[in-house]
Amino acid sequence: MKDLFGKALLDYQNGNYTEDIITSTSISDDDLLPISYLFRSFSEMPKIEQKALKLSKGQVLDVGCGTGSHSLYLQENRLNVKAIDISKGAIEVAQKRGVMNAEVLNVLEEKSKFDTILLLMNGTGIFQEISQVAKYLTHLKSLLKPNGQILLDSSDIKYMYEDEDGGFWMDAHSNYYGELDYFLSYKGKKEVPMKWLYLDFDTLKLACETVGLHCGLILEGEHFDYLARLTV
Ligand SMILES: C[S@@+](CC[C@H](N)C(=O)[O-])C[C@H]1O[C@@H](n2cnc3c(N)ncnc32)[C@H](O)[C@@H]1O
Repeated sequence: MKDLFGKALLDYQNGNYTEDIITSTSISDDDLLPISYLFRSFSEMPKIEQKALKLSKGQVLDVGCGTGSHSLYLQENRLNVKAIDISKGAIEVAQKRGVMNAEVLNVLEEKSKFDTILLLMNGTGIFQEISQVAKYLTHLKSLLKPNGQILLDSSDIKYMYEDEDGGFWMDAHSNYYGELDYFLSYKGKKEVPMKWLYLDFDTLKLACETVGLHCGLILEGEHFDYLARLTV
């Protein structure tokens, strides 16, 4: 990983913003990801994220924290938060913004236990592929304190395969329609392609059942997105 994402965040934080990140996927063309969105305040967040923050309690782990927007809100509301991300640049920015406990760490390496684990902005993306969902969920479950909760959001992206006639053009031979290849570029440089997973609620619920987690639907968003709460 070249950490172009982290470089873009650092540029923005340091007042060197000139252009946004460009993303595309195996099923969609180039799209701009405004860097300012990754620095959003509570009032600029989607309802689903606001709800997740309101439900957060006790010791919180913010997985894939990015610039730490969610962690900062929780910290301001006197919760004890640990923010982790695999992006060195993102963690540097989170620290500069005031996140007190921020660490470069892959969630699979995390060992402490928490009352609330947050995975936001398509939290299932971190699982990468459908075949890895059980591994990630099992690990996240092992990080929960008694009565702990995992709050994560994702979307059912079936709509992206719909053609003008209302038919669907999904490839019957591919694994699962939410498994995407994700491409990112910034200032003319290309990041190493990544895998990024969107999970519809029913598939997430089924995966949770296989690892002994209860999966409840908390809130549906305006565009096939949802917030789920996973408990033991
Ligand atoms: C879509 S961004 C979301 C950032 C932030 N949560 C937000 O809502 O603005 C996903 C983040 O997850 C991080 N990430 C990806 N895989 C990870 C892993 N295995 N462990 C920790 N962080 C990870 C990425 O570096 C990236 O910063």
